[in-house]
Amino acid sequence: MSEKSELIRQNEYIERLKQIVTDLSNKKGHAPTFAVITFGCQMNARDSEKLIGILEKAGFMNNGENEKSDFVLYNTCTVRDNANQKVYGRLGVLNGHKKKNPDMKIALCGCMMQEPSVIEKIRKSYPFVDLVFGTHNIFKFAELLVRMYESKGLIVDIWKDTDQIVEDLPVKRKYPFKSGINIMFGCNNFCSYCIVPYVRGRERSREPKDIIREIETLVADGVVEVMLLGQNVNSYGKNLENPISFAELLKEVEKIEGLRRIRFMTSHPKDLSDDLIEVMKHSKKICRHLHLPLQSGSSRILAQMNRRYTKEQYIALAKKIREEIPDIALTTDIIIGFPGETAEDVDETIDVIRQVQYDNAFTFIYSKRTGTPAAAMENQVDEAFAHEQFDRVLKVVQDTARERVSLLEGRIMEVLVEELNPHDDDLVTGRLSNNILVHFPGDSTLIGQILKVRLKECRGFYYYGERV
Ligand code: SAH
Ligand code: SF4
Ligand code: F3S
Repeated sequence: MSEKSELIRQNEYIERLKQIVTDLSNKKGHAPTFAVITFGCQMNARDSEKLIGILEKAGFMNNGENEKSDFVLYNTCTVRDNANQKVYGRLGVLNGHKKKNPDMKIALCGCMMQEPSVIEKIRKSYPFVDLVFGTHNIFKFAELLVRMYESKGLIVDIWKDTDQIVEDLPVKRKYPFKSGINIMFGCNNFCSYCIVPYVRGRERSREPKDIIREIETLVADGVVEVMLLGQNVNSYGKNLENPISFAELLKEVEKIEGLRRIRFMTSHPKDLSDDLIEVMKHSKKICRHLHLPLQSGSSRILAQMNRRYTKEQYIALAKKIREEIPDIALTTDIIIGFPGETAEDVDETIDVIRQVQYDNAFTFIYSKRTGTPAAAMENQVDEAFAHEQFDRVLKVVQDTARERVSLLEGRIMEVLVEELNPHDDDLVTGRLSNNILVHFPGDSTLIGQILKVRLKECRGFYYYGERV
């Protein structure tokens, strides 16, 4: 079916859903409430905005993350096992709520649902779940909801992969002033530890004209900052009928009037081109931040991880970026405890952290993911050893980041104000171009504005500041 006619079909289901919502409202005396709870990365967060868009369009009432709602949806992540465990834990609690509210419906979607073993477990141990779908068919959400309300028993609809990209379904943004934009879906890299290519499918890029049109619409609706999303944005556009590079796409996005800031996630070091560095260097809108996942500083481990760069190549790349764009902040992801990793390998990782001087780094203990090549490796690392190494790395990350971030003390920089400080109502929280957070005195009227602040006091990864 063509993607246009699929859109028409789904809009018809939204209309049918509206009738179901009306019937439920008449029965209960109020519109049915919903909660969408999101685990995982920005991709999932963006998917949730699409799911919420459909629910609100159909007339459901947004109840935040209140799990005592008439409809609860978990959008799950499976990148590490602790993400899965959280979902199972919370499902147990949900069952209690459902016993008290017999009209309640429970649905699960997202990356975890793409694993057959998970589906088996839900069928067996969580029979109170009503609907399960995966990452490839979220555009069918309205249709699936209609089926759920019109039938009894668990509905499972999981696709192995898809080449369809359905445009123009409703979306409800979490922030009025900033938005994620999918520029591509899936991943073809198969890093040996990673489950994402198995649960998100093969790499597919959106047409540049669709991306530009979406951003233009967002800007007209008040968005000043966009984040272009893909598992490996540096390989964007290679497989389109009319190939275009990520650097070229950025140049087009830059031209959009009214757009103030451009971010993107994530860059794989192996595909980061000189053109991209050049475009970033001359851009007035691309933020001074690059997230460049290292994973390991040991060339031996990197080869086992199938990352396709060496320690030396990574350091040379980071150095080139810092030379060309001196005020850029570099952040990274690091995995500790990959099969066969020794203390010497971790020393190499620490050496890279010291040389590159990251502004922030996310460190993860390796988690064995069923079906990935690394899960079948025989030399899995002892957990206690991995935790020791993790602590060692974390200490260096914190020390170098503090040193690096504190270099900005006293400077005056622009922040985009994002929210009231959750711990102190007299403060607002904003983000610098380089992604560092700043808390400063202000009220909710400032949210969404780009303002100048003086960076007064560095607190490790963030600042206290004042408006100037
Ligand atoms: N596409 C992005 C990252 C996706 S997952 C990239 O390539 O950088 C986000 C991070 O989770 C990864 O960078 C990696 O550090 C971590 N990660 C992925 N699989 C993992 C696993 N099995 N165990 C621990 N951390 C993992
Ligand atoms: Fe996973 Fe590697 Fe793809 Fe990132 S690039 S999503 S780490 S396989
Ligand atoms: Fe998790 Fe899926 Fe993102 S596994 S990290 S939510 S792509």
